[in-house]
Amino acid sequence: MNDLFRRFALWSTLILALPTLANAQGSTAADSKPKFVIRFSHVVENDTPKGIAALEFKRLVEQRTKGRVQVQVYPNSTLYKDKEELEALQLGAVEMLAPSLAKFGQLGIREFEVFDLPYIFPNRTALRVVTNGPIGRSLLSPLEERGIKGLAFWDNGFKVMSSNYPLRLPEDLKGRRMRIQPSRVIETQMETLGAIPIPLPFSDVYAALETGLVDGTENPPSNLYSQNMHHVQKYVAVTNHGFLGYAVIVNKKYWDNLPGDIRIILENCLQDATRKNTQEADRLNAAALAAVKKSRKTQVVDLTEEERSQWRQALEPVYRKVESRIDKSLIASIRRAVQTTQAQTQ
Ligand code: LMR
Repeated sequence: MNDLFRRFALWSTLILALPTLANAQGSTAADSKPKFVIRFSHVVENDTPKGIAALEFKRLVEQRTKGRVQVQVYPNSTLYKDKEELEALQLGAVEMLAPSLAKFGQLGIREFEVFDLPYIFPNRTALRVVTNGPIGRSLLSPLEERGIKGLAFWDNGFKVMSSNYPLRLPEDLKGRRMRIQPSRVIETQMETLGAIPIPLPFSDVYAALETGLVDGTENPPSNLYSQNMHHVQKYVAVTNHGFLGYAVIVNKKYWDNLPGDIRIILENCLQDATRKNTQEADRLNAAALAAVKKSRKTQVVDLTEEERSQWRQALEPVYRKVESRIDKSLIASIRRAVQTTQAQTQ
């Protein structure tokens, strides 16, 4: 009897609850089903300047559109690797990316490689004056012919050199096989140092270092540390010789078909996510470098001013060597903008 009663009670509770459940399900499905989904693919870890900014963008967009737009972030090459992701964006298989500027040469856009020139920016403030101003805007516009809309620039600060051979001065890279991003300027930079440049996708770098396919590489500390490259690199020289920047891009057709009010919200969210990227990059890189030092797996070599000027001098010929590739007037206008910023801050 007791058992029968319990069964009856259970069934009646379920039957009474059914309309409510259906309503709840129905209304949740109707209200919370995103109308627009943005798949945002990238190749680095979440806990990096780019990863954090992508997650901030997702958080803000979903909050401010009240779920009308969902942003699915796929970090660490889980969806696509370097070159694949650019193709996927053009085909509409993902909506949003933030590839490094060194990777746009593959699309036939050489101008972005200007950012790879050694020591072109003395600090990140000067860099932002360039990326946030007319030069930045004019660099993004040629993307449109390739079905891509450039929305913003993010960055990851400055790169260090790493190797499995003792490393302090430029000549220490002679004959070393160095993994690079597919940028002709970076290729020239490595050749100028007497190294052998080997372009590889970011997702393959750890294995390439581990197996000895390459001896070394370059990246900001946050990328080095978050990919555990310090486990497979014996030396890191804090050269800060080059800058690693990103262009945040969307599939143009997708973007143009979004309702205007949504586009405005997305642009505002991106501005705020960009601010987050700007604020977090220095902190994350400093923390990563400290963690690499603490791990004692890699010897971190801090350079003296004199040693740094040796790197600067050794890399100066890169500018002349890439003259046929990078418009001289673009380099000159970046230098003018940098000088103006420096004069203003003195
Ligand atoms: C690299 O390929 O070395 C980096 O550009 C990866 C990234 O996107 O930061």
